[in-house]
Amino acid sequence: MQEMISRTPVKLAVLGTGGTIAGAAVDPLDNVGYAAAQVGVAQLLASVPALPRLLGACELVTEQVAQIDSKDMTWAVLYALWQRVTHHLLQPDVLGVVITHGTDTLAETAYFLHCVVSPALLSAKPVVLTCAMRPASALAPDGPQNVLDAVAVALSTGASGVMAVCAGTVHGAEHVQKVDTYRRDAFDSGDCGPLAYVEEGALRQLKSWPEPGANVINLAIKNIANTDDWPRVEIVMNHVGASGAMVEALLAQRAGGPSAAPLLRGLVVAGTGNGTIHADLHAALRRAQEAGVQVVRASCCQRGRVLPSGDVDQFTDSQGLSAVKARIALMLRLMG
Ligand code: SIN
Repeated sequence: MQEMISRTPVKLAVLGTGGTIAGAAVDPLDNVGYAAAQVGVAQLLASVPALPRLLGACELVTEQVAQIDSKDMTWAVLYALWQRVTHHLLQPDVLGVVITHGTDTLAETAYFLHCVVSPALLSAKPVVLTCAMRPASALAPDGPQNVLDAVAVALSTGASGVMAVCAGTVHGAEHVQKVDTYRRDAFDSGDCGPLAYVEEGALRQLKSWPEPGANVINLAIKNIANTDDWPRVEIVMNHVGASGAMVEALLAQRAGGPSAAPLLRGLVVAGTGNGTIHADLHAALRRAQEAGVQVVRASCCQRGRVLPSGDVDQFTDSQGLSAVKARIALMLRLMG
């Protein structure tokens, strides 16, 4: 008697959040004067002709989690994304999740998900963010190829962790940064370099898949469902003539002025060079620390990390994270 083989159908979840990839301009030659977040994720996928061939028997499940220009990203959207990503990854027949996202804050969203999605899920399945530098209405949009490449990565055997795919390059969530205002190959992984390339649909892997973030952070976020109550962490920057004025203003608010702003819990200083800080700004940051504010120092440099040196060591260093990612890390730590 012939044995019956039951094949469980497999799925890939694609979550839309908006961005230039979903953008539209009146003129197809206009690659900058467009409105982001105009096209729904299902319509976006329908405009990628080679997608059904790549998917084979794998079914797509689409969901519009948000429809925004990513410069307007909020904690509420990130929280919803975390929940929806978790929901889909928990389904046994879902192989992974692809997220379409604006390029401007993609690196922050990728890092946030890397920190908060359960390590058990992330070590088994991939979450792949993708984007575009040209709107969907452009003469030669880059979104369709980026979607194809992201799907190819998500369907690759053994793929796991949070990644970003843009212009045929795969970056890990911890190191990816947007480095170009206009060109299609707009992302870089600094010293770490890319994880892989996608070439004609085939993956050329250079490094292991990214390790998930620490479990402690993943547990801490579960305690605070209301995103209005997430710890407030601000970024200040060092530069020529930097003063302590911004920090002093934040401390004055903290001291109980008329403002209803949430209590400041942390500050990230985006230092110059090796995390260096103007003496006046440094003094203000010390006062903030004495008032109970946690201070982390990062560097504005694209490469390298902050190395220990003299007085600036009074502040925790960002462990190589950019200022915006160090802010997310500190905020999540403060939830614990
Ligand atoms: C955005 O970040 O939503 C707009 C810019 C882009 O996607 O390139």
